[in-house]
Amino acid sequence: MRSALLTTHLALSGVHVALGGRPVLVGVDLTAAAGDRVALVGENGRGKTTLLRVLAGDLVPDSGEVRRAGSTGVADQELPAAGTVGDLIDRELTEVRAALAALDAATLTVAEDAEAYDEALARVEALDAWAADRRVDVSLAALGAVTDRARPLRTLSVGRRHRVRLAGLLGARHPVLLLDEPTNHLDAGGLAHLTERLRSHPGVVVLASHDRALLADVATTVVDLDPTSDGRPRTYGGGWAGYREGRAAERARWETAYRDQGEEHRRLADDLSAAQNRLQSGWRPPKGTGRHTRATKAPALVRAVHRRQEELAAHRLSVPPPPLRFAVPALTGTALHAVVDVPGRLGRTVVDLGAGGRLVVTGPNGAGKSTLLDGLAAAAGRVGYLRQESDLPADRSAHQVHEALTARLVSSGQLAEDEVVPLGAVGLLSGGDASRPLGELSVGARRRVDLALVLAARPRLLLLDEPTNHLSATLVDELTAALRHTPATVVVATHDRQLLRDTRDWPALPL
Ligand SMILES: Nc1ncnc2c1ncn2[C@@H]1O[C@H](COP(=O)(O)OP(=O)(O)OP(=O)(O)O)[C@@H](O)[C@H]1O
Ligand SMILES: [Mg+2]
Repeated sequence: MRSALLTTHLALSGVHVALGGRPVLVGVDLTAAAGDRVALVGENGRGKTTLLRVLAGDLVPDSGEVRRAGSTGVADQELPAAGTVGDLIDRELTEVRAALAALDAATLTVAEDAEAYDEALARVEALDAWAADRRVDVSLAALGAVTDRARPLRTLSVGRRHRVRLAGLLGARHPVLLLDEPTNHLDAGGLAHLTERLRSHPGVVVLASHDRALLADVATTVVDLDPTSDGRPRTYGGGWAGYREGRAAERARWETAYRDQGEEHRRLADDLSAAQNRLQSGWRPPKGTGRHTRATKAPALVRAVHRRQEELAAHRLSVPPPPLRFAVPALTGTALHAVVDVPGRLGRTVVDLGAGGRLVVTGPNGAGKSTLLDGLAAAAGRVGYLRQESDLPADRSAHQVHEALTARLVSSGQLAEDEVVPLGAVGLLSGGDASRPLGELSVGARRRVDLALVLAARPRLLLLDEPTNHLSATLVDELTAALRHTPATVVVATHDRQLLRDTRDWPALPL
């Protein structure tokens, strides 16, 4: 019998969603069959999370169709804290438990209804339900998650809760697996496990991630939500490499078409003024032409030019919008000498850096990286500390928070008035995002605000805890380049495999 998983699929067509009165998803089409692993990419705030919510059936689109076959497992970007570790796992295994219960029930009545038994058995086999709990245990261990199922979730950090849920999801083998930024709280071992599980997932996987190494290892198809000439997203086959090539070609085509169109507009404007000049200067058709032609020929030309101009205006291409460009303000460095010793969390650790020094802190989850960064933040002055988790007020805008912060720094004498870095100068936020309530921004856009606030006070020491989390791949590239060049002193704690490769010439402190 063919496994039911082989036939599972996901289909979206013509999906439109507006949020807060602004279009977020415009004409999204997507089809995925078992074995497809679809990556959603695009700048922060482009609608990846929104699209995943539509796929999960969590958000009903304003128009368009969504079809889904089979159970759906969802790891979203934010996570509630009620219940225990076991509850969280049970929630993911609902389908599996139901399939096993149905098989038990069907076993009792197999004599009367053999067909029902066969169906129940097929379902259990398709989900490989007997092995689900064992799979969860394997994933809990591989992801370094808490294995005590009685443990209340509220006693766990966000990262530890994420890992528990991810283990539940991977164990459940949902025919449709939807993952929003699943790598943020994983260490090297966890990343390897996730990669392997996704590659062998028997159903459909759709994931949004900034982790370029994961996308390259996993994606078979990429849906790009960044702006296009017709406003609709593009889908690229051929995995990550296919996307990189396809996107560059797409952008080049748009720019060329835009340039050609501009040239045609100019040519037509020239034709039009030439025709007008000829009319004004008493243009005469060659001798022998009848009166009738003489009177109408030039205006006909003008009309033809006008017509072509109208046609062009109707199909006018928008300017390819210039992407935001991250710009680090001018900074200076500071020497750092600190001894951090937090019993139970981090053994005595010494950090000695000259002005402009670099350090990359590595180690598995729970090794004390954040504890070290907290200690360094307390030991130094003029620190810009990007914490792992964002904690911004939902009802205020980035502008307001930035203004309040810099006003406080200036009035307390920590920062001179002319040293303040304006919010708009760092190229992290669009003007619209800067003035909307922070609660309405995407998770990545909020992280951009955190980064802008860190830079606002011209720090001499940058402490960055998992700086790539939630940021778009483009910004991560720019941030990496900036961190390599800034004269400020920089300490980074990260699991990001690409960032580790890009900083491999820095001194490392493995915890
Ligand atoms: N409740 C809301 N009210 C108004 N606008 C919203 C709301 N929720 C999301 N948005 C807007 O919808 C857009 C898409 O957000 P979404 O979270 O889907 O982006 P994303 O691509 O997942 O971004 P990120 O990379 O930061 O996770 C953003 O411009 C966001 O500000
Ligand atoms: Mg998102």
